[in-house]
Amino acid sequence: MTLETNTIATATKKSPLQKEIDKRRTFAIISHPDAGKTTLTEKLLLFGGAIQTAGAVKSNKIKQGATSDFMEIERQRGISVATSVMGFEYRGVKINLLDTPGHQDFAEDTYRTLSAVDSVILVIDCAKGVETQTEKLMQVCRMRNTPVIVFINKLDRDGQNPFDILDEIEQKLDIRVRPITWPIGMGKEFQGVYHLINNRIFFFKPNKQKLEDDVTEINSLDDPLLDTLVDGHADLLREEAELVEGVYEPFEKSTYRSGEIAPVFFGSALNNFGVKELLDTFIDIAPTPAPRTTDMRDVKPDEDAFSGFVFKIHANLDPRHRDRIAFLRVCSGKFERSKNYLHVKQGKTFKFSNPTSFMANDKSVIDEAYPGDIVGLYDTGNFRIGDTLTDGEKIIFKGIPTFSPEIFKELVNTDPMKAKQLEKGIKQLTDEGVAQLFTQQPGNRRIIGTVGELQFEVIQFRLLHEYGASCRFDYMNFYKAVWITTDNPKQLQEFSDQKYRNMVIDKYGNPVFLAESEWLLKRAMENFPDLKFHFSWEVI
Ligand code: G4P
Repeated sequence: MTLETNTIATATKKSPLQKEIDKRRTFAIISHPDAGKTTLTEKLLLFGGAIQTAGAVKSNKIKQGATSDFMEIERQRGISVATSVMGFEYRGVKINLLDTPGHQDFAEDTYRTLSAVDSVILVIDCAKGVETQTEKLMQVCRMRNTPVIVFINKLDRDGQNPFDILDEIEQKLDIRVRPITWPIGMGKEFQGVYHLINNRIFFFKPNKQKLEDDVTEINSLDDPLLDTLVDGHADLLREEAELVEGVYEPFEKSTYRSGEIAPVFFGSALNNFGVKELLDTFIDIAPTPAPRTTDMRDVKPDEDAFSGFVFKIHANLDPRHRDRIAFLRVCSGKFERSKNYLHVKQGKTFKFSNPTSFMANDKSVIDEAYPGDIVGLYDTGNFRIGDTLTDGEKIIFKGIPTFSPEIFKELVNTDPMKAKQLEKGIKQLTDEGVAQLFTQQPGNRRIIGTVGELQFEVIQFRLLHEYGASCRFDYMNFYKAVWITTDNPKQLQEFSDQKYRNMVIDKYGNPVFLAESEWLLKRAMENFPDLKFHFSWEVI
């Protein structure tokens, strides 16, 4: 069994566009907070030569207890802008690593970012195993069959038995696994990992700075050398490796690429251990930019005509400048600076004279970008998350999900003189995806829905500092927001009349039912069989 490699643009017949596509890997690292995402990101950048020193990548998580510290929110926002995309080159491949927020209150932002990647690396803490946020993030990956590589981290600490962790991953994350490396001991006993496919032993030496691995190749596990190399663990390793081969199916690139099987690596990001193996395998197996679905047809990356979509919008940190950066994923063709492109939703053309690319912590203006690349576009308020840009074709990319918020509060204006500013501010902040806005008619009552409390503080702070508007939030006791579609408008009208206190429209004018409890939602579903209730919604 071998890890078959990607063919990197060597064939002579390939078009220049195809060569660029084959060179690219666009992915995100996801994890429950504290599993080691920031540390692994930094180590990948170190191996990729994109940064020179450890400590250069700042954690973008808001530490617990800092929720009222607005400077912390701004600091975090600054880091998020700087690290939204970290591009680097490794072994002739252009890697685009998309950052995801470290705080679970910003999970929506992560879900949207996942729509712009072609694969993910999932980091799991070997002591904690699968955690709540891991499950939620993986649900989103499973919806799209995004290929996943698992990195089980912190092997330098005592953790769970590796077989137990793998079982837990399979059960809770609904994906089959295939270990590629296997740990030799753990915690104080941790000696290294054995590469199950190429029979190499990587010896662990705690070291936060050193990037070289100490590797020894053996012929097979029967090699008597093993007994001298791994102190007291040789027989256990032989036994476990045999069990692995018996229990888990052989690694196939195709089942990884279709999202059915996740290859698993063990290591310690903090100690640079197992990271290079992970990166090398990633380069070999991770998919190149994949086709994307639109409302009309699937768009292939090698089509000549340019197309792309906006998956993230970031406000400028300077409150005096309202401009924002819209992050666009290129899906097909070549994006060019100062060329006119159609903003499909608005039916208008735009050109961008300063499109930005991101290489590690550096931003620079680019002349062109290719499928898989992320381009930062300066925006004065024309973009919303999910917007499509094309060479002229009227298509809209799908796949940016909106999930029901978990906390609902009514937005109350506390300064009637600043009603206009509040209106504008809340529109722009919700365009950025900070929270969801629902409006109740008649009365124009505005209800803000979020997944965490933190967003309310962010909104209040930013409304005041960037728009000069002050507001209050009144808690509302709703359980879920569900989107309604139907072929029976009469029944929808009947439902809306009956439930007028719970009916609102979202930003796009879609009818949404705010259910007070699971039981009431179930009743509504039973009593109105022609209505379809959706727990997530695609921004199209
Ligand atoms: P996150 O982005 O997923 O939230 O996690 P992050 O990388 O910030 O790591 C969380 C904590 O776990 C950090 O410690 C980090 O040093 C530690 N860590 C990461 N990888 C390993 C590993 O392989 N082994 C061990 N033992 N620890 C690891 P912290 O004390 O919270 O932060 P810091 O003060 O070290 O920055």
